[in-house]
Amino acid sequence: MKVKVRRSALILLTIHTLVMVNLLLYVIQRHHHPVLTVDPSHIGAVPLVVGSPSLTAPLVLVVCAGANNTINDYALLYNANDTSEDLQFAEKVQGIWTRQAEQLYTLFTTLLYFTKSAVWRIIVVTDSMATFQKVLNISSHVSMHRLQLEHSPLWLPENQPQLSQQQWRPCVWAKLFLAESLPDEDAVVYVDTDVVFLGPGEDLWWLLRSLGPQQALALAPEPQYQRDQPRRPFAGRVGLNTGMMALNLTRLRQLDGGGLGSAILRAGMMTPSPRHDQDALNNYLSLNPHLLLEVSSRWNFLPSSCFREAPECTDCISAGITLLHGADMSFFRVIDRKVLATYQTLTSLRLGQDPRLVLVRLQRHLAQADFWAHIYPCSNSTGLTHALTLALADAAMAISLHLPSIRV
Ligand SMILES: *[C@@H]1O[C@H](CO)[C@@H](O)[C@H](O)[C@H]1NC(C)=O
Ligand SMILES: *[C@@H]1O[C@H](CO)[C@@H](O)[C@H](O)[C@H]1NC(C)=O
Ligand SMILES: *[C@@H]1O[C@H](CO)[C@@H](O)[C@H](O)[C@H]1NC(C)=O
Ligand SMILES: *[C@@H]1O[C@H](CO)[C@@H](O)[C@H](O)[C@H]1NC(C)=O
Ligand SMILES: *[C@@H]1O[C@H](CO)[C@@H](O)[C@H](O)[C@H]1NC(C)=O
Repeated sequence: MKVKVRRSALILLTIHTLVMVNLLLYVIQRHHHPVLTVDPSHIGAVPLVVGSPSLTAPLVLVVCAGANNTINDYALLYNANDTSEDLQFAEKVQGIWTRQAEQLYTLFTTLLYFTKSAVWRIIVVTDSMATFQKVLNISSHVSMHRLQLEHSPLWLPENQPQLSQQQWRPCVWAKLFLAESLPDEDAVVYVDTDVVFLGPGEDLWWLLRSLGPQQALALAPEPQYQRDQPRRPFAGRVGLNTGMMALNLTRLRQLDGGGLGSAILRAGMMTPSPRHDQDALNNYLSLNPHLLLEVSSRWNFLPSSCFREAPECTDCISAGITLLHGADMSFFRVIDRKVLATYQTLTSLRLGQDPRLVLVRLQRHLAQADFWAHIYPCSNSTGLTHALTLALADAAMAISLHLPSIRV
């Protein structure tokens, strides 16, 4: 009898406890709900740049699709079953464009996730109107209102067949001719399409403001030039990467020929034939260093930024990496495990996601990257995980501090 009473009391107590726990979970969920939709871009460290600087000096992308595409790439990538088989199928059908579409989606998403700017004006230079329509489609799936895209046709000088034919991938030369092809713009920030933002993108406009009176462009290092054989001419301390360029076009128009690309052509930098546009620009700037502001790899971090030949990046640690660059297809193949893990984590990022969850996921993937043999460029770079996650950690911390206190 005694036992029975005790048992029923125990059952009652258990039910009571379960109800209380459920109630508590409900209260916590109710309190958490608004927190989960907090926009991480509106919290965090003191900004370098405020407002929407791209309205006066736009962000510029150059996108070429080349081949005729008949399938809606976006549907293939994001509406189809998200299995690797589907993606592999998509790769086969769409080849390079599928990769570009995924990169553009991730670029736009990370841009809006971290920025405090209300709107972004983006000039998209494309090989055809059809390509621009595709880019518009991708951007509209990220945000209808905050991404304001404008089209500009690809422009290359006439009688320079070596630029539009074989050399490297299509389109790469166009970024050297922005002063010529965008006559109405005073200044722009150009980025390659294989980049992701890890902090507020508008901070890049601080580079335009940092140019000295003689300087016309700001670029970050490309240490690969220190390892290439045969050696090629390079500018800056170890070489420069063209994946991010803060360009004062007004000043570039004062160069011989009326622009950067034209000046490079007139200076005869195409012979001996460079591997690509970046070699030509390095060659030119090595002879015209007064035009250049060399900035740290915080502004364009790539696997070679981890080489021991690379200049030390103290502000990567103190301020965080703003832009990560998947140079040399490092977002799609194992050049460096941490660079790959970061991109792969951010391809599934969605606006409004709780930065604490994104941070935990990214930190886990970066920690897993450390389990591999330490043979990758960034294996031994202490502090890289911190530099890659600093803005996310700031956003996560700010949200945690805003947690409502729960009184039961
Ligand atoms: C694109 O389509 C046009 C006409 O349908 C065709 O002539 C051209 O060869 C195609 N280009 C490629 C790269 O497939
Ligand atoms: C998703 O997978 C299911 C089952 O394998 C299949 O029936 C369906 O057609 C697929 N959907 C798409 C859009 O591929
Ligand atoms: C863009 O999307 C719209 C509507 O979703 C569709 O009608 C159009 O065909 C798409 N264009 C391209 C080039 O994919
Ligand atoms: C670019 O340079 C021109 C000429 O020196 C200057 O008037 C203009 O303010 C500069 N633009 C920016 C965004 O700094
Ligand atoms: C990293 O350090 C380990 C241990 O000192 C060394 O064996 C390895 O070669 C280093 N890796 C790189 C990429 O420098």
